[in-house]
Amino acid sequence: MNDSLQQLGLPPEALPRHVAIVMDGNGRWAQAQGKSRTVGHARGAEAVLPIVAECARLGVQAVSLYALSTENLLRRPDDEVGALMGLYEQYLVSERQQLLDNNLRFRHIGRREGMPQAVLAELDRNTETTRDNTGMQLALALNYGSRQEITDAVRNIANQVKTSNLSPDAVDEQLIENHLYTAGMPEPDLLIRTAGEQRISNFLLWQISYAEIWVTDTLWPDFDVAVLHRALLDFARRRRNFGAAPTAPGGVVT
Ligand code: FPP
Repeated sequence: MNDSLQQLGLPPEALPRHVAIVMDGNGRWAQAQGKSRTVGHARGAEAVLPIVAECARLGVQAVSLYALSTENLLRRPDDEVGALMGLYEQYLVSERQQLLDNNLRFRHIGRREGMPQAVLAELDRNTETTRDNTGMQLALALNYGSRQEITDAVRNIANQVKTSNLSPDAVDEQLIENHLYTAGMPEPDLLIRTAGEQRISNFLLWQISYAEIWVTDTLWPDFDVAVLHRALLDFARRRRNFGAAPTAPGGVVT
């Protein structure tokens, strides 16, 4: 058994395969410090790597990070979106070596349309550079929206029905999953949201059907390995039935 898991008191079977994270609260962190939102986002960026590296060290198979929703892109002021895009571009370059050192396999999830070419180029470069890595998968959700993802999947499938003789009867859950941006990733077992909001905000709606949700008041720039461990330990205590009847006395059917 992985020594790190043993130290934490986590049995390997209680480790989520995929941890999805809604990183919220950069703006509130900045406001509380009397700083600009851009400084909050920069601090948020610094908080990412230790969490990703710890998940990889513990043996989590996949992490997905909600960095920018399609709605954020459309609805936030241009200067904030511009500053965020600059930050992503810089971050994708500066962390490239860390992706390799941690044996991570990187991918972008989200729509490409509407994204600056410079950011797309770095996303592609990180995907390409880490293609043969064998460790944890890391998905960065940028210009991501779950409804858009499902819409894209349905459109692709409809095109296949029209042009490739795909029978409508062959459309099943597996086929739909194969057309999502997350194809090939295990579905999230644990969804973490920081900064206290009790919302999903259009993140991985299909994929989180049976995920456990863990919300903390901690703002994303303050989210550290100790808080991650708390989330994992709480997750390990959850009873998951996936719709079945409880298997032990006192269990709750969910
Ligand atoms: C939410 O905070 C955060 C975002 C919209 C952007 C997320 C970006 C980061 C965490 C930093 C960069 C990440 C990477 C991978 C480089 P908010 O601005 O909505 O906070 P608020 O709700 O307190 O205003």
